[in-house]
Amino acid sequence: MCGIVGYVGQKQAAPILLHGLGKLEYRGYDSAGLAVREGEEITVVKAKGRLAELSNKTADGQAVPGNCGIGHTRWATHGEPSEINAHPHVSDGNFVVGVHNGIIENYQELREKLLNHGYKFYSQTDTEVAVKLVDYYYKKYLGTPIDAINHAQVRIRGSYALALMFKDYPNEIYAARKDSPMIIGTTEDGSFLGSDVPAILNYTRNVYYVGDMEVARLTASDVTFFNLDGDQIEKEQKVIEWDAESAEKGGFEHFMMKEIHEQPKAVQDTLSAYLKDGHADLSAAELDTEILKNIERMYIVACGSAYHVGMVGKYVIESMADIPVEVDLASEFRYRDPKLVKNSIVIIISQSGETADSLAALRLAKKKGIPTLAIVNVVGSSIARDADHVMYTYAGPEISVATTKAYSAQLIAVDLIALAAAAAKEVISDEREAELVKALQALPEQIEKVIENKERLQWFTSKFANEKDAFFIGRGIDYAIGLEGSLKMKEISYIHSEAYAAGELKHGTISLIEEGTLVIGIMTQDALFEKTRSNMVEVKSRGAYLMALTENGHYSIEDTADFVVYIPKTEPYFAPSLAVIPLQLMGYYLSLARGLDVDKPRNLAKSVTVE
Ligand code: M6R
Repeated sequence: MCGIVGYVGQKQAAPILLHGLGKLEYRGYDSAGLAVREGEEITVVKAKGRLAELSNKTADGQAVPGNCGIGHTRWATHGEPSEINAHPHVSDGNFVVGVHNGIIENYQELREKLLNHGYKFYSQTDTEVAVKLVDYYYKKYLGTPIDAINHAQVRIRGSYALALMFKDYPNEIYAARKDSPMIIGTTEDGSFLGSDVPAILNYTRNVYYVGDMEVARLTASDVTFFNLDGDQIEKEQKVIEWDAESAEKGGFEHFMMKEIHEQPKAVQDTLSAYLKDGHADLSAAELDTEILKNIERMYIVACGSAYHVGMVGKYVIESMADIPVEVDLASEFRYRDPKLVKNSIVIIISQSGETADSLAALRLAKKKGIPTLAIVNVVGSSIARDADHVMYTYAGPEISVATTKAYSAQLIAVDLIALAAAAAKEVISDEREAELVKALQALPEQIEKVIENKERLQWFTSKFANEKDAFFIGRGIDYAIGLEGSLKMKEISYIHSEAYAAGELKHGTISLIEEGTLVIGIMTQDALFEKTRSNMVEVKSRGAYLMALTENGHYSIEDTADFVVYIPKTEPYFAPSLAVIPLQLMGYYLSLARGLDVDKPRNLAKSVTVE
């Protein structure tokens, strides 16, 4: 939620800031702004709407000279999207200028305090409060920017990544964070700051991760870090392995379509990282046979699509490894005082590794003394850093708000956990293990084949561009796939859709079926095929238009369904990796046919760093 950037160096700052904001626009896109400093002068420019408005207003940055600046692209939390609420915010006289990502929970209380000290507020944002709080401490104690920021950090409750400039400190940017992402990159001719890797990847791969409640000072030639006591601290520089091209569209019209096509590679790379000598090997996550053998229960906690992966994981792990699994939405888990049994593990799944609810769930599990495993895509993210064990997915940077390749890589991660645990507990034979490994290894090529048939789906989907509602039904793993298909459809096409456990339809939802209502039956599980077919017949007799998604060979379904999509045969456990592809494509083509912004759907942001 919100993207922040900063640059200080030899080059003109504004074009670099705009470029970085362009890479972060997926994090929020209702307004944008920048502040650039030239000598004593600090120029602030803001615009409501997409980043293009800000680019126009600044002549692509040429109209705002200076070598030091900060920028922001906003996803509104406090205050409507407007120019006045857009960042940067400034204290009177431009003593302190700042941009912020996150939510300051006690901003009302801090605002009152500052009002009592004569401060005036022009926007409805919590950010203006943060900037003025820093200004207040800066003037009160007449100390350094580090002291002022640290005083403010002690008072602020909530999450924040702040980038600040001080009038008295030319050519310096200060940054601080708590529970909101921020990385700092260095080159020979400048220092960069961003909420996420793509913002700075064009310039450098050498980065520092700012820790919670640490402060960084950026100058053109170096970056220095300080702790909450104001003492200088040493930090290790890391190298980002992602290459710049992987964060570009590479000839595709949208990131989402590019990322759909990258799924064979994401799956292959994740498999390669954890399949060794024909066995699932989680030693990279410091999970050895002894640890896995002793796990008696797993709790999977996540949000959105990652939660849907958890739903698949429950079916796969329980059945393959004989371990009971509970799945929770992170936003529920964190507030329900979960009773976690001994000899268990809490698995947090998150692409960004920054989702606020998932991070809070992880911390709760740790507080309760339960070991935690994070399945995360973004290296060095907060969840990855806080978890006891980390299993990275190798999807590369995912830019489209609707997740595709990260979801697919997460599916592989839970499959591998199931396989490793099943082997450790000796609940599968060597022959069965070999069969499952073979099936996993076939997935990248099979996914490729499913994607090859995309035109047929485009043709079918375009007929439903004006649909009001759609329903996804399935049983067991197929229900979990339906949840993801439904989310893909609604989040980018804005068509209302629901996923139902097929047997549950009769308990209320079936009354919504009218003449022509689109119902998508997911039928990848042989054992449940006939059961779901019966439910499809029930809705058909009430007028539904039926699409079936099933495996090659189930040709008899053509007697029931109006349109059938076939996927290659695989082990039932791994069918989600293939079945999700047509559903992602349907969401994509519906969004396209409706003329919507596929990669940046309304009201959403890529990483949800607020509750
Ligand atoms: O970064 P995370 O995996 O923690 O994000 C979780 C959800 O916000 C995310 O999956 C969301 O539901 C996507 N928009 C789905 O496409």
